[in-house]
Amino acid sequence: MNQGLGRPRLRPTSLLFGGDYNPDQWAPAVWAEDVRLMARAGVNSAVVGPFSWSSMEPREGEYRFGWLDDALELLHAHGIGVILSTPTASPPPWFSLAHPDGLTTRADGIRLQHGSRDTYDPASPAYRAAAARIAQVLGERYGRSPALIAWHVHNEYGTVSFGPHVEQAFRAWLHERYGDLDELNRAWHTAFWSQGYSDWSEVMLPGRTQYLDNPTQVLDFRRFSADLLLDCFEDQISILRRESPGVPITTNLILPTWLHYDHWAFASRCDFVAIDHYPDADGIEGAAQVAFGADLARSLGSGSPWLLMEQAATITVRDGKMLPRPSGAYARSSLQHVARGSLGALTFQWRAPYAGAESFHSSMLPHAGEHTRGFRETVGTGAMLTALGDLAAAPEGPTVRPEVAITWDPAAWWAAETRTLPTDDLSFLRTVQGVHRAVWNLGRTVDFVRLDHDLSPYRVVLVPSQIVLAPDQRANLERFARAGGTVVVWYFSGTFDPALHVVPGGYSGALADLLGIRVLELHPLPTGVTVLLTDGGAGSVWAEDLHLVGAEAMARYESGELAGRPAITRRAVGAGVAHYISTELDDASLQRVLEPILLDAGCGPDAEGAGDGVEVVRRYAGDEEYLVCINHTAATRTVECRGTDLLTGYVFDGPVTLLAGATLVLRQA
Ligand code: GLA
Repeated sequence: MNQGLGRPRLRPTSLLFGGDYNPDQWAPAVWAEDVRLMARAGVNSAVVGPFSWSSMEPREGEYRFGWLDDALELLHAHGIGVILSTPTASPPPWFSLAHPDGLTTRADGIRLQHGSRDTYDPASPAYRAAAARIAQVLGERYGRSPALIAWHVHNEYGTVSFGPHVEQAFRAWLHERYGDLDELNRAWHTAFWSQGYSDWSEVMLPGRTQYLDNPTQVLDFRRFSADLLLDCFEDQISILRRESPGVPITTNLILPTWLHYDHWAFASRCDFVAIDHYPDADGIEGAAQVAFGADLARSLGSGSPWLLMEQAATITVRDGKMLPRPSGAYARSSLQHVARGSLGALTFQWRAPYAGAESFHSSMLPHAGEHTRGFRETVGTGAMLTALGDLAAAPEGPTVRPEVAITWDPAAWWAAETRTLPTDDLSFLRTVQGVHRAVWNLGRTVDFVRLDHDLSPYRVVLVPSQIVLAPDQRANLERFARAGGTVVVWYFSGTFDPALHVVPGGYSGALADLLGIRVLELHPLPTGVTVLLTDGGAGSVWAEDLHLVGAEAMARYESGELAGRPAITRRAVGAGVAHYISTELDDASLQRVLEPILLDAGCGPDAEGAGDGVEVVRRYAGDEEYLVCINHTAATRTVECRGTDLLTGYVFDGPVTLLAGATLVLRQA
């Protein structure tokens, strides 16, 4: 758990509500209206300064903090806690001009210039020194401020650079990982295409070659870049730990489409996990995305309370369009995150900016001011979160305790993006989100795990798109199955070792014995082509010719050149069972396959009536248990539940009618 012994904890007395607040972008006269309207909306927290480096340090070594002193004093005086950000995601122009080697270099060798944000080289000594200095100065000045409730380091780490500093650091990282060149040549299989290295100075960065890169070199560069960003984060953690003892530290992990670092590694350094989460839909589709991100955030922190640092309030960005969110959507998605373990719901951003590159992004206070639907939604969301203050109490154990887990492994994600796989239609995120969505629609909650984690809390472990598998991970999964667990593995999982070498024994070779199969031939499907199964299901993207070696076929291909061949298999393993799904089933087919598997494993829905757009989450806070029910559908639905609703005080015991969009938060007796 992230809140291990001695770690500073985020201890709000009520759920946090607020968002990014940039006082340096406004005249102080506006601040007075800000705090007035924040009070109206029940705002109790503000993220200050993520992009204020040039306001804080207009020239190197010359600091200007008067505005920040005044802003923190004003916010504190109005009962608004400050999550103070170090502004290192956007160095000032003076830095870029004084240290051009501190700027990002693209894979094609083009060095970027100042003019946006996120433009820095994480391996540049000048950048690292400047970032450490501003963090040090902020830590010294504000580290013990009564206004401070947490540190927000940087903003959405994610810059990947290819400059000379990076190349030098990459060689050192490889030396550390492989020890000597023989091992590097073996892992990268450099006998292929005459790539054998005889000196470390010959090793270059990927991305500037005539044709296809070495796949393992690319994968190792992804691993290295992740570690490099982690080093940047750790630089600031050590400074703030020293200058601001007892104040919890985090950074905002961006979900779900970005993967420039290992979220598990970053989360382990955070005193509480925080995420920025922007689904690209509303309604049931958007709710499933919210549940995915919230379950992942909680899991990254081993079930500890975490914090939604950013979400959209008034708009949803989809296909480049900024669409107004439906009425109640802001409140419902806020409740979803809280139900799944968040200590509140913060938003990007408080006030719509009048200029800059994000004038029309989401805001709690729209351009048209307080007499708008947008601000009324903000006030309503704040009132709801205020009424749910009991959910801010940290429970003894995890905030949510699912019996189902899905594997989520950055190395498998990066491997699935390798350019030379049998199809370029593989997508780690699409497959994993599809499995999560199916279980969500079946009314169950889910944790995410990596296969070297303790699997004993779960009855079912789902293994989609885990195409890279280490021996200890395979052994852990087999122990789980033999001890009585239920395992479901998807196509191509277990095909590679961590060096992206194809494991012997057919495809999915690392798991062939556990599954009781041999996959002898791959049949990736042309884009848009589906394959039918004898159980009435349909799959796309992938099919394969697999042979039973102890497993039994639960469904066979009914169409295409594999007609009659096994498609879905099952094998008893010790006290447990291992299933294999050899195609990408559509949502309905996947739900039909998983429902009996979950029931056989003793995993029922979290309440009768849960599922298919009616979300029910069993949430723990303090020493209480709550049942959060949200009807995301446009229809009236019935849920069997009991308890006292925190929002209305009504006591329920039995079938409850939930109108479209309705929510319940029931304290269990
Ligand atoms: C990200 C960033 C914010 C802002 C929002 C816009 O989450 O952290 O600074 O750019 O996106 O949606």
